[in-house]
Amino acid sequence: MIFDILTIFPDLFDSPLKEGILRRARLKGQISTNIVNIRDFADDPQTMTDDRPFGGGEGMVMKPEPLARAVKSRCEAGLPGARVILLTPQGRQYDQAVALELTKERQLVLVCGRYEGVDERFRAGYIDDEISIGDFILTGGELAALVIIDSVTRLLPGVLGCSNSAEKDTFSRKLLKHPQYTRPRVFDDQAVPDELLSGNHEMIEAYRFIASVLRTLERRPELLKLENFSTMEIKLLRRHYLFEKVRMIQENTQEK
Ligand SMILES: C[S@@+](CC[C@H](N)C(=O)[O-])C[C@H]1O[C@@H](n2cnc3c(N)ncnc32)[C@H](O)[C@@H]1O
Repeated sequence: MIFDILTIFPDLFDSPLKEGILRRARLKGQISTNIVNIRDFADDPQTMTDDRPFGGGEGMVMKPEPLARAVKSRCEAGLPGARVILLTPQGRQYDQAVALELTKERQLVLVCGRYEGVDERFRAGYIDDEISIGDFILTGGELAALVIIDSVTRLLPGVLGCSNSAEKDTFSRKLLKHPQYTRPRVFDDQAVPDELLSGNHEMIEAYRFIASVLRTLERRPELLKLENFSTMEIKLLRRHYLFEKVRMIQENTQEK
């Protein structure tokens, strides 16, 4: 997967792309990242990429020409059908399903806004998709681009060391992941649950499934609305007196 990142602050990407799983994925050729300085596409000696808004008012707006030239250059240099994404608080909300959707692409061109955002005509003419990472305002799109690169990369085949660990993450189903424990067996008078020490794989899986449902009921019950459970899972829910609770959440949704 190719990630092209269009920014006026290229140095912001130095460390995050050089550490951990992103570093390994780059070294193995599973991803490549091109940091493109939008200033290199400005046509005046001061490399201006922003200007005052027509109509007056606060702040500056990113000029359309350098952005358009930068996008064109990446699309021409890259693969056919690159998807150009504008990071913007006005975009569709990013989540694990969108991350999974983006793994199907071969090249993502991520456009990082700054100041008051980008000129509307650039948005209308050059952008395929607009993504927000949440209902809050960042100073620029760079951190949002990194969120996308990080979350998409770990879903690409072969990137994570343990092949199924992404499949068991929170949000891969409509369930939060169960609590995790490591050594020591007792910490601050709290012991690791017996089931996890049993060595019985079936018992461990059943414990983790119920712990996962309980955590979801406690913190994000709305997630359960669209979850499908296997026959074995329904049996476990019944055994732990959770089936009715889950069923009520699911039926309330279907009625609406
Ligand atoms: C200060 S923000 C501009 C906000 C804009 N004036 C508005 O009210 O919609 C500057 C840039 O940060 C990025 N940004 C800010 N919040 C974001 C979010 N929640 N998700 C994605 N990008 C964001 C966008 O690229 C945006 O152009």
